[in-house]
Amino acid sequence: MQIIFLIICIVTYANCKLKVIRPAELVDRMGSKVNMALANFGQIPFGHRLMGYVEMADPYDGCSALKPSYGSQFVLIERGNCTFVTKVKNAQNAGYMLAIIGNHNDEPLESDFVMADDGHGYSVNIPSIFITLRDFNIMKEYATRKFYSENQDDQVFILVKFDVEKRDQIDVVLSLDVKDGDSYRVIDEFSQFYKILKNENVNYTLVYQIFNANETQTDYYIDTDNCICSRRYCSMDPDGDGIASGRNLIEEAIRQTCIFKHYPDNFFDYMDQFNLQCTKAQAYSTCGSKIITNLKIQADEINKCRDDSFRDTINHERTQNLSNAYNSILEHQLLLIEKAGMIGVPSVVVNSIVYKGQLTGNGIFGEICNSFIYPPSICMNEIDDYDTLENNGYHQLILVILFISILIAIFIFILYLLFKKFVKRDSVEVTQVQVNEMVSQYIKFYEGKDQQKQNSF
Ligand SMILES: *[C@@H]1O[C@H](CO)[C@@H](O)[C@H](O)[C@H]1NC(C)=O
Ligand SMILES: *[C@@H]1O[C@H](CO)[C@@H](O)[C@H](O)[C@H]1NC(C)=O
Ligand SMILES: *[C@@H]1O[C@H](CO)[C@@H](O)[C@H](O)[C@H]1NC(C)=O
Ligand SMILES: *[C@@H]1O[C@H](CO)[C@@H](O)[C@H](O)[C@H]1NC(C)=O
Repeated sequence: MQIIFLIICIVTYANCKLKVIRPAELVDRMGSKVNMALANFGQIPFGHRLMGYVEMADPYDGCSALKPSYGSQFVLIERGNCTFVTKVKNAQNAGYMLAIIGNHNDEPLESDFVMADDGHGYSVNIPSIFITLRDFNIMKEYATRKFYSENQDDQVFILVKFDVEKRDQIDVVLSLDVKDGDSYRVIDEFSQFYKILKNENVNYTLVYQIFNANETQTDYYIDTDNCICSRRYCSMDPDGDGIASGRNLIEEAIRQTCIFKHYPDNFFDYMDQFNLQCTKAQAYSTCGSKIITNLKIQADEINKCRDDSFRDTINHERTQNLSNAYNSILEHQLLLIEKAGMIGVPSVVVNSIVYKGQLTGNGIFGEICNSFIYPPSICMNEIDDYDTLENNGYHQLILVILFISILIAIFIFILYLLFKKFVKRDSVEVTQVQVNEMVSQYIKFYEGKDQQKQNSF
C-alpha cells in the first residue's frame, strides 16, 4: 500500500521543488509546494529527486558534531552561530544525505539567493537547501516528534527535486574572470570532459566579468582607463595605482573568447599556460601572444576576430575608432550575464539553470549529462553516480515485485501439482468404479444370458 502511494506522489508532484509527502497533517499545514534555495557549495544532484525521512539536528544549530542519524536521511538545522558549511559538514559526518537549513525570517527565497561558501565548501559533498523560517518551524515540530513516535506514518517524509532543464542541445555558459585563479582551475578540470563531450550537441559560450558604466552607475566613478568604447565595457582596475588597467583585462577577455571560438582544442592549453606564465596584467598582451605562437595558433586569425568585433554604433561596420563603437563579442556577453542574473565567478549556467554547489569539472559534466533529454552513452556512469535514494527506492520496488512474482509463480506451480495429483486420483477412482461397474454389469449380463439360455431350454 505504501509503495503504491509513493509512485502516485512521484508522478503527481513532479513539478515541485520540495514536497512534503507525510504525515498528512503536515501536508495540510505546509501546502503542496515548499520554496527552497540551493547552497552554493556541496554536490547538488542536478536532474534528480531525493526522498527521505527528516529529523531535527542534535544540537539544533549543527555547529558541533551532530548525534548520528536516527534512521533519517535528511536533517533540519537552525541558522546561526556558525557558517553554513560547518553545519552541512557536520550533517555529512553524521551520515545525512541532505541538510535543510531554516532562514532567520519569512522573506521569499529569491532564486539567486545563495547559501555562501565560507571557503571550505570543497570538503562538503552532500547537497543542502534553505527554507523560510515559517516552513522550518512547522517541519521542526513534526520532525522532533519522531523521537517518541514509532509509527512510520507520523514521521516527516519529503521529496526534494533538483531541477535541470532537459533539452536536445545543451547550452553551457561559462562565467570567468581573466584575473581569477579559480576560473583557470575550473577550465583545467573541465578540459578532459570537454574532450569526452566533443561529439555531443553542446554549445559553449564564455562570458567574462565586464560591466557597463556609461550611464547607469553615475554615482560610481570608474576611470576611463579601465573601460573601452566610452565606458561601454569596463573592468575593475587589477592593481590600483599600478600601471595595469581594466583595459588589459578586457582585451585579454576578447582574445580568450576568440581563441575558444577558432581554436577550441588549443584553448585549454592556452588557459593553462596563461595562468602559469602571465601574472602581470600590463603584460597580458605580449605574454598571451607568446603562448599563441608556442601553440601554433594563427595569430592573424585571432587578431582578425578581435578587429571584426568592433563595430560602428551607427552603421554597424567594422571600425577602428573605438570612441563611437560597440563590441559584438562583449555586447553578447553582457546580455548573457544580464539574462542569467547575479552569477559569481567562476560559474556555469546549463540550459539557463545556474549551477550551484562546489564548482568542479566533474560537477559541470554531471549537470550537462543530466540536462540531455536522452543522455549519450558516455554519460551513463555519471547519471548512475547520482542515483541515491530515489533509485534505491526503485530498485527495492523492483526487487519486491520480483519477489512477489516468484512467490505467485511457486504458488501456482504447487497448485498445479496438487490439482494434477487430485485429478489423477479422482480419475483413477472414477475408472476403477466404472470398470467395477462394467465388470459387474458384464457378469450380470452373462448370468442373465445364462439364465435366459436356461429358460429357453
Ligand atoms: C547559539 O548558541 C547559543 C549558546 O550556545 C544557544 O543558546 C543558541 O540556541 C544557539 N543558536 C541556535 C540557533 O541554536
Ligand atoms: C549557443 O549559446 C549561446 C548562448 O546561450 C546562444 O546565444 C547561441 O545562439 C547558441 N548557439 C547555437 C548554435 O545554438
Ligand atoms: C550604454 O551602453 C548600453 C549597453 O551597451 C547601450 O545600449 C547604450 O546605448 C549606451 N549609452 C550610451 C550613451 O553610450
Ligand atoms: C571617432 O569618432 C568620434 C565620434 O564620432 C569623432 O568625434 C572622432 O573624430 C573620431 N576619431 C577619428 C580618429 O576618426
